[in-house]
Amino acid sequence: MISYILVYLIYIKMTEFHVKTYEFLDSRRSNFVLRLQIGEILKADYGLYTWPCAVVLAQFVIHGRDKILNKSIVELGAGTGLAGLVAAKCGAALVTLTDHMDCQDGLLNLQNTIVRQGVSNANVCGLNWGHFTSELLNIRGADIILAADCFYSSKDFEPVLVTVANLIDANKSAEFWCTYQIRSAERSLDYLLEKWNLQCRLVNTDEFTSDVSVVCKQCSPDVPSHEIQLLIITAK
Ligand SMILES: C[S@@+](CC[C@H](N)C(=O)[O-])C[C@H]1O[C@@H](n2cnc3c(N)ncnc32)[C@H](O)[C@@H]1O
Repeated sequence: MISYILVYLIYIKMTEFHVKTYEFLDSRRSNFVLRLQIGEILKADYGLYTWPCAVVLAQFVIHGRDKILNKSIVELGAGTGLAGLVAAKCGAALVTLTDHMDCQDGLLNLQNTIVRQGVSNANVCGLNWGHFTSELLNIRGADIILAADCFYSSKDFEPVLVTVANLIDANKSAEFWCTYQIRSAERSLDYLLEKWNLQCRLVNTDEFTSDVSVVCKQCSPDVPSHEIQLLIITAK
């Protein structure tokens, strides 16, 4: 544990580590403001950077927060944990933020970020996509599974969906809410959804991004919203 902390401290010294404040405002309820402090680095780095997909997913969680209330949530490939922590602040019963077991700096950053929010309904767990581990068995029973930008590379599509299918198998009414940045028109999930007995609905992002605005100094570079898709995947 001590060596992980040392590696983490050296890492944050070497990189541009910042605690960034994200403020979400819901225009449907003028008094609704959600403020989060997220530890991250400013340059695009796989797990310690808050990707535009995470901001869009967080907006959707706020938009649909009635569905989150008292529910059990799991976030896959959480990175800096923005969407999952928004769910925790919106009244989820328990949020489990997960990332790859080898991503120790990311997992430690998530622990620190939970403490910074002052929430008691969130925890962190190492979880590798496509692996049937005791960690996966322990988090079965999730109502909503979240993932932002986890279909980053086409080699990950099936491992992500295998984990999702396994979680949905344990709770047939569970929903997988994920944001996806279109990086190539040639990529498709259709064959894998069929293979794993899942179905998918595309949500129009304009429906909720216009209601829930985000204020964030030093925010991630803007990605035109048409490049980000929000999918809801459920059992067939
Ligand atoms: C593009 S980043 C997205 C991070 C975060 N969700 C966001 O949108 O800001 C992909 C994340 O998936 C995690 N990841 C990559 N491969 C993984 C695997 N095989 N199992 C679990 N997590 C993985 C990475 O560590 C990283 O945090």
